[in-house]
Amino acid sequence: MKQEKDTAFVKFKGIEKRYGKVVAVKKMDLEIPEGSLVTLLGPSGCGKTTLLRMLAGLEEPTHGDIFVKGVRINATPIHKRNLGIIFQNYALFPHKTIFDN
Ligand SMILES: Nc1ncnc2c1ncn2[C@@H]1O[C@H](COP(=O)(O)OP(=O)(O)OP(=O)(O)O)[C@@H](O)[C@H]1O
Ligand SMILES: [Mg+2]
Repeated sequence: MKQEKDTAFVKFKGIEKRYGKVVAVKKMDLEIPEGSLVTLLGPSGCGKTTLLRMLAGLEEPTHGDIFVKGVRINATPIHKRNLGIIFQNYALFPHKTIFDN
């Protein structure tokens, strides 16, 4: 049998994030194929934002690995990941123009 090619664009492997005793994301495995549209659906506080913050590089995982196109990016600084994030809450100055922001 042929070995299956790893086609995941983003891959979370055993990813976990703890803030002290709080487990924000618990042992999560997820593979996202290139070009797909994925929604994380779950109750408030289940760890959706934390997972995305780890992907973007705003939080460091406590355990596990994150891969983009097969490359482990755990230690890649945020500005070298070439990923974008739009925040859940406004992170812009309302009195400024788009350019000024
Ligand atoms: N900086 C932090 N320090 C301590 N606990 C945190 C921190 N950030 C998140 N948490 C906790 O981690 C858990 C997951 O939070 P997260 O914000 O990822 O949830 P969410 O699924 O995005 O929720 P919502 O639907 O309300 O946006 C929650 O229990 C939250 O209180
Ligand atoms: Mg959230």
